[in-house]
Amino acid sequence: MSRPFMAKGEIVAGCLAPHPPHLVYADNPDQNEAYSEGGWETLRWGYQRLARKLKNIDYDVMVVFTPHWQTYIGTHFLGLPNFKSKSVDPIFPNLFRFNYDLTVDVELSEAMHNEAAASGIITKMMRNPDFRVDYGTIVSCHLLNPEWDKPIVTISSNRNAHYYSAEVMNEQAAALGHACRKAIEESGKKVVLVSSHSLSHRHFTTEAPLPEDMSREHIYNHSNYVWDMKLIQMMRDGKMKEVIDILPEFTEQTIAETDAGAFTWMMSAMEYPDYPAEIYGYQSVIGTGNLVASWDPSEASRELVL
Ligand SMILES: [Fe+2]
Repeated sequence: MSRPFMAKGEIVAGCLAPHPPHLVYADNPDQNEAYSEGGWETLRWGYQRLARKLKNIDYDVMVVFTPHWQTYIGTHFLGLPNFKSKSVDPIFPNLFRFNYDLTVDVELSEAMHNEAAASGIITKMMRNPDFRVDYGTIVSCHLLNPEWDKPIVTISSNRNAHYYSAEVMNEQAAALGHACRKAIEESGKKVVLVSSHSLSHRHFTTEAPLPEDMSREHIYNHSNYVWDMKLIQMMRDGKMKEVIDILPEFTEQTIAETDAGAFTWMMSAMEYPDYPAEIYGYQSVIGTGNLVASWDPSEASRELVL
């Protein structure tokens, strides 16, 4: 329902925020039980720079789309005001055992759910108080806002890429982004969107004895590197419609985590920016290609970072 007396809501930033648990492990926050000697500074310093920018942006809520809440029937939305538990990475329990206590903007979550449902997308609200929030949400949100002083909404990844194809996922995620934009505008809220994933995603299958041993870290192979750099150049050039058009090919060639639909969802919600992305850092984590980047719709505050 539109509320004409209220200022129109808006997306004030969109962030590409990769979620290797290694980055939280390397930061040693109080919430994580594991201890490290550091690592992956290029990404962590980039994240810290973007987190400082977000501190200076007026926003109400962070909406994150994650590949690690995987739903096979429809798109699900967090639907309770608080979730508190311990998140353990199933692949890296040695790195990530994170005690979280987060708040959800249920009103906006329901608004996006309802708008998506009205446009024909199968949807469901997650109302289980024992639901464990996935580590993709937690890593990306923690690194963008370590104070956790804003509510979030998490949107699940409906696995269209696996059930159908990367092309079907691209179309479905774009429709979801369009519906979420409409809900945000009608909500009157200022929203930061978060697309939580790596770019190229081939990774090593064995771990160094010391996970943060940076002498062991490098991109998995050269073709993944070339693909990642191609996409980053297109982002710098403001060619986001073209990036989304070639995303199915990129996803298949580099086993990219864009298979989840998050990036297409965010770019569709932002109406495919034709202005330059802000680049904050690129580095490999267990061989995967990770980029921290942001799209700032405001020309006044948009920066050339790197
Ligand atoms: Fe992931």
